[in-house]
Amino acid sequence: MSAGRLQAPRGTFDVAPTEARRRLRLLRIAEEVLGSAGYEPFETPVFEDTELFARGVGESTDIVQKEMFTFADQAGRSLTLRPEATAAICRAYVEHGMHKRPQPVKLWTWGPFFRHEAPQAGRFRQFTQLDAEALGSDDPSVDAELILLLAELLERAGVAETTLRLSSLGTPQTRALYLEELRAYLREHKDELSDDVRARLDQNPLRAFDADHPGTRAVMKRGPRLLDRLPPEDAEHFERVRELLDDAGQAYVVDSTLVRGLDYYTRTVFEFESPRLGAQSALGGGGRYDLLIEELGGPPTPGVGWAAGIERILLAAGGEDGGGDSRVYVALAKPDASRAGFNLARRLREEGFRVEMEQAGRSLRGQLKQADRIGAGTTFIVGDGIDVRDMRSGEQRHAADADEALALVRESGA
Ligand code: HAM
Repeated sequence: MSAGRLQAPRGTFDVAPTEARRRLRLLRIAEEVLGSAGYEPFETPVFEDTELFARGVGESTDIVQKEMFTFADQAGRSLTLRPEATAAICRAYVEHGMHKRPQPVKLWTWGPFFRHEAPQAGRFRQFTQLDAEALGSDDPSVDAELILLLAELLERAGVAETTLRLSSLGTPQTRALYLEELRAYLREHKDELSDDVRARLDQNPLRAFDADHPGTRAVMKRGPRLLDRLPPEDAEHFERVRELLDDAGQAYVVDSTLVRGLDYYTRTVFEFESPRLGAQSALGGGGRYDLLIEELGGPPTPGVGWAAGIERILLAAGGEDGGGDSRVYVALAKPDASRAGFNLARRLREEGFRVEMEQAGRSLRGQLKQADRIGAGTTFIVGDGIDVRDMRSGEQRHAADADEALALVRESGA
């Protein structure tokens, strides 16, 4: 057997410490932003019965048809690595009788998701989503609240220049009538469409809106728009959502061609995009799914939510890892200072510093280099007493003990 080099599977990646720190910071921001509106953390399993996604996400979607990692367990049950979170959260809502709790039930989750897509920049086979859902209310204020929370999260994550696309899909009945109208229209213009769109015309005519093909685009420009076919209650609901976004000063583009890759949506749908991301421009998106819980066997329960791609947010945010000035290094001027150094490091951690100490037998010069490498603002050199070195200016002051050393760093504002 040849010993091939082992690598992370295609479409997956390792997260090195600098990047891992950025992810943790984003997780903290998410907890704060979502917590501010009463969203609670929640977790579901990484795999579920395949049927959940087939029924929840929709048999005709690309996700279910082509992108699921599905396998049989030892008893022959078909399981699937979760491609998204909404279906599972709705499953949990039904399973735990959450309709008996005060509504809406507001939950968020963060973790790995899996889709067998062709990997490219910003598109992976294992990626991370932050997902937020509000179950049990069809009030337009919930739609607006969720959209504004995602906008705030993106802003606090340092993603500038986002575009929010917004639309409403109405009910399945509206959509069925509209789809018939659209199919008839597309058939009339069959010769101008791309082969791909023509082949899927009956199954999924909405795909025509996604096409890059110039002929198809020209036809779609003149085609019927779902937004113009909404019944009064749905149009009114959409109007309320827009009104609240306007009040909040949130910019958006109403885009009746917005197509989401999942079947469960009703009424509001939206997507945040970044021009910095290239082809995979969607930072996050979501919408309302007022029929999904019932479809999964629960009581009629409206819901709305979104998911955002963590890797894409960090890609679009760019920028540096802040490092942090509270980092310090404990260096040892002589080998027998290691016990005093260890105890000083403990003490400094208790005081809230991020502390690393010499643990590799380096020379004092090597230790100072290492302190620089980790971005320490101050180095404590333990020998006879403690020398407190400001790593930027190189200035060094002597302290008799830990208390005095601490007083010196506080004085210098580190
Ligand atoms: P989605 O639009 O399929 O929606 O995914 C949400 C976000 O996940 C995307 O905007 C993108 O940032 C990220 N994402 C998706 N696939 C990949 C991939 N292969 N690589 C990297 N990032 C990816 C949903 O999943 C719905 N469950 C959202 C939702 C929640 N709707 C209602 N509630």
